[in-house]
Amino acid sequence: MDASAVVFGRGSLAELGDHARALGLARVALFTDPRLAAAPFVDVALRALRGAGVDVALYAEARVEPTDGSFLDAARFAREARADGYVSVGGGSVIDTCKAAALYAAYPADFLAYVNAPLGEGRPVPGPLPPHIACPTTCGTGSECTGIAVFDLVARHAKTAIASRRLRPSLAVIDPDVTAALPSAVVAASGFDVLSHALESYTARPYTRRPRPTPAAARPMSQGANPWSDLGSLEALRLAGAWLTRAVADAGDAEAREKLMWAATLAGVAFGNAGVHLPHAMSYAVAGLAPGVALPGYPEGRALVPHGLSVILNAPAVFRWTAAASPARHVEAARALGVAPDGCVEDVVGDALAEHLAALVKATGLPPSLGAVGLGAGDVDALAEGAIVQARLVDNAPRPVDRAAMRALFADALGA
Ligand SMILES: [Fe+2]
Repeated sequence: MDASAVVFGRGSLAELGDHARALGLARVALFTDPRLAAAPFVDVALRALRGAGVDVALYAEARVEPTDGSFLDAARFAREARADGYVSVGGGSVIDTCKAAALYAAYPADFLAYVNAPLGEGRPVPGPLPPHIACPTTCGTGSECTGIAVFDLVARHAKTAIASRRLRPSLAVIDPDVTAALPSAVVAASGFDVLSHALESYTARPYTRRPRPTPAAARPMSQGANPWSDLGSLEALRLAGAWLTRAVADAGDAEAREKLMWAATLAGVAFGNAGVHLPHAMSYAVAGLAPGVALPGYPEGRALVPHGLSVILNAPAVFRWTAAASPARHVEAARALGVAPDGCVEDVVGDALAEHLAALVKATGLPPSLGAVGLGAGDVDALAEGAIVQARLVDNAPRPVDRAAMRALFADALGA
């Protein structure tokens, strides 16, 4: 079990300077993105750090949905900043950019060296990284609790990741007040990311079915469903089921947004240990290939498929198919989410989950299908190829997945 150090509560961002001092930091590189740089909570973070006597080098160029190129730009900044630690204030894109920048600044290498195999070499991170305090500004990715940095490998049109325990932030400072400013599309997309993290962690291949690694240090972070992750997954599902639609519908509903932020934290701890599986593996292919849409609250003039949306659009097809592998666990997860009525029989739970997830997406007003983000039946083969290479995620599924199965999953997701 890997634990995450977390400070959670309204107003906690104002304590950031004290936490940085406690970690021994006198000069930090602070990462954010151009839109957030003008938001009030970046100012809160800067004032808290400077007020505690911590010097700040500001990098406000982190790219939303980062790429290998944007990671390298950030690493160049990190190297030149000569800071003794890092702070990230933003969504998953910003936090992931900060993880990668810290890594390549500390241990320069060819970019693909640390990237997950088979797209990269999958080399282990050589040693510890400087302290990193992650301050999420969305209620979704859970990146502040994981050792995973996701990006778009542009030349391969594929999303992939760098994954190592050494990338896990030293501390997460999670202030639910930051969610008050979030547009509803952002809360919806990140809320579905939370929901899927929990559902995937809970239904992942059990850790007892993974071969014992030699040496023990090679044991993966994504080790499959396990009793520690189950705790967070079930509670996150319960919270998402109860509060997600309210948090989306009303920016003024501070209670709903705080509950969703806590669900995101629990789900982040859960999937940081269990790992996710097929909806995420498929999402990387979707994000790489879909023309995308412009959505309010995302960078203007850029069509994209927000991460949480690219995940949840695959989820109905996936859980319809995986339910047969572990019907009892799917029933427990569905009940936590508020789906299955008592007495729901195990052989219909896959369909019940699928229908419920699809209806939830519709209810939030997000594009409700892969077709609505520009994909069609003719894309099935390319999507399947893009997803099957996500070995870390595909191997974590509760059923073995070959190319034919992956094509069938996308055909179902596309309604083809
Ligand atoms: Fe995710």
